[in-house]
This record gives sequence, structure tokens and C-alpha cells, in this order.
Amino acid sequence: MAWTRKHLLDIESLAAEEIVTVLDTARAFKAVGERAIKKVPALRGRTIVNLFVEPSTRTRISFELAEQRLSADIINFSTEASSFKKGETLKDTARNLEALNADFIVIRHSASGAPHFLSRVLQAGVINAGDGAHEHPTQALLDAFTIREHKGKIAGLNVTILGDILYSRVARSNIWALTKLGARVTLCGPSTLVPRTFEQLGCRVTYDVDEAIAGADIIHLLRIQHERQRQTMFPSIHEYAQLFGLNQARLARTRPDALIMHPGPINRGVEIDSEIADCGRSLILEQVTNGLAVRMAALFLLNGGKGPHEVTGD
Ligand code: CP
Repeated sequence: MAWTRKHLLDIESLAAEEIVTVLDTARAFKAVGERAIKKVPALRGRTIVNLFVEPSTRTRISFELAEQRLSADIINFSTEASSFKKGETLKDTARNLEALNADFIVIRHSASGAPHFLSRVLQAGVINAGDGAHEHPTQALLDAFTIREHKGKIAGLNVTILGDILYSRVARSNIWALTKLGARVTLCGPSTLVPRTFEQLGCRVTYDVDEAIAGADIIHLLRIQHERQRQTMFPSIHEYAQLFGLNQARLARTRPDALIMHPGPINRGVEIDSEIADCGRSLILEQVTNGLAVRMAALFLLNGGKGPHEVTGD
């Protein structure tokens, strides 16, 4: 299905066919990344601003490399060195960046809805790189890509998302993407962090960890989002690790082909034991690798690219 979108703001508004087009296009870009010459001219002459107002390692670097590989001109906006410090608003900052002929603005912000707001006040295309606890669309796309690469499909798989669901934009975007693509999604964690209202999104909610992971094809772990929690949601990190952390004893009770995912950053010894993070069933670093191809695909399609056939020339 061809993309006609100018912005990538969320997964909620995407059709399943649009998601599949991103995944197929990303597969073509991953193949390009394995060639001697990894750069393509698709975004030559386009200017992209990376406006990260909240910390990021993986997403920021991955977008920057994706833009370089697509031959775009890049401006990396540094909050600390900016006039945000003098009280300039997000709207004024973004409009000034647009006045420098920015074609796309990639934004990460602690406020849910910040990318949607910019999409209403700017002519440039806006890409959500994570907004508050709302959505992180490219993370869900790279997660779906990674699952499909390993399992050959997404429809019919059992995916358990375990951890702080309430404050997680990754959880929300993954729920939208995976349910649209036909997976069965189970949510698990402390009851304070996994409200039953999530069942309205088409998921199953359980507070029994062993039951949640027993039949899972994919166990997707999330860290505790301390920076977004306004109150104490569980007694202690130690207790959380004991009750909900993925350790060797729990892993032994899962299917042998169940794979472990985590968007990062990981907190070793809390939601995941260190040796599990580094074991052969962990896809954590592959997720990061795949983020590059997925972000190249998203930028390419938003810029008018038609699909994988245009990347491969087939
Ligand atoms: N997964 C993810 O969004 O990581 P960063 O916060 O490092 O970008």
C-alpha cells in the first residue's frame, strides 16, 4: 500500500497495510546496508532537524545515521545550547527551524501530543521520536520488523509485554502495531502499572507473571519509567525484581523458542537479569540494528517514496 502521509505521529492512525509497507521497505533498506556502498540519494537536498528535547541514545543516533544514509542535510538541535534556556517556546523554536527550510522535524518531547501540536503549526513533516507516555511509533515498527524477521510472521503470535505499561509509550505503540498485525498481546506487571483499561485496546491483562510468559513467543520487557511516575507505584525496586523481573528460573519455564526483547535502556538486575540480556535468545541489540533500516524506510516513504521496489530497483 502506497504511503501518502506527510507526518508519522503515531501507530494508532496507521492501517495494517501501511505498517506492512514500512516493514517491507525496511527489509529493502537493510539489504542496502549490507552493500559496500550504504548510502542512497533518496533525500538529497532535503533538510532534517533532529529536535530531541528529552534524552535519547538509540533513537537519536539511529535517526541521524538513517538521514546520513539517505543523503539528507542534518541539523542536530541541542536543548542545552538553545534558546529554550531563555524561555523560547516549542512553537517558536520549531517555526524558526522551519524558517531555515527544514523539510522534516524529528521530535522527542516529554509532553504527550507535542509532535501532533507541531504538525498543526508547521508546513514541515513531523516525525514522532517519542512523546511522553503516548507513543513511540518507530520503536514499534522496528520491534515488529525484528519479530517478523525471526518468526516469519506476526499474525497469531503470542506477545507478552511485561513491566511498566502505564507510563510506556513503547507499550502503547507496540499494542497498536501488534494487534493491527494480528498478534495476541498480553500485558503483565504490577496492578498499579497495568490498569485493566488497557483491555479496551484489544489486549489481555494478567498479574501472574509465570502464566503471562509461559506460552509467549515473544517476551517484551519494559523498564520502570521513574521519570514519568508522579507517585510511588510499588514498594521497592528489589521487590519489583523479585516479583516481575525476568530471571533464569522464570526463563526456564518459558517455551525454548521464546525470544526476549527490550527497547532499552535496560536496567540490569531489575526487569532483566544480566545474563539473560546477553544470552542467545535476546534480540535487544538486533532491535537497535533494525532501527536504522526502519527509520530509513519511514523517512523514505514520508518523502514520497513508493515502497520497497523503488529501493531495490525491481
Ligand atoms: N528505545 C529508545 O527509545 O531508546 P532511547 O531513549 O535511547 O532513544
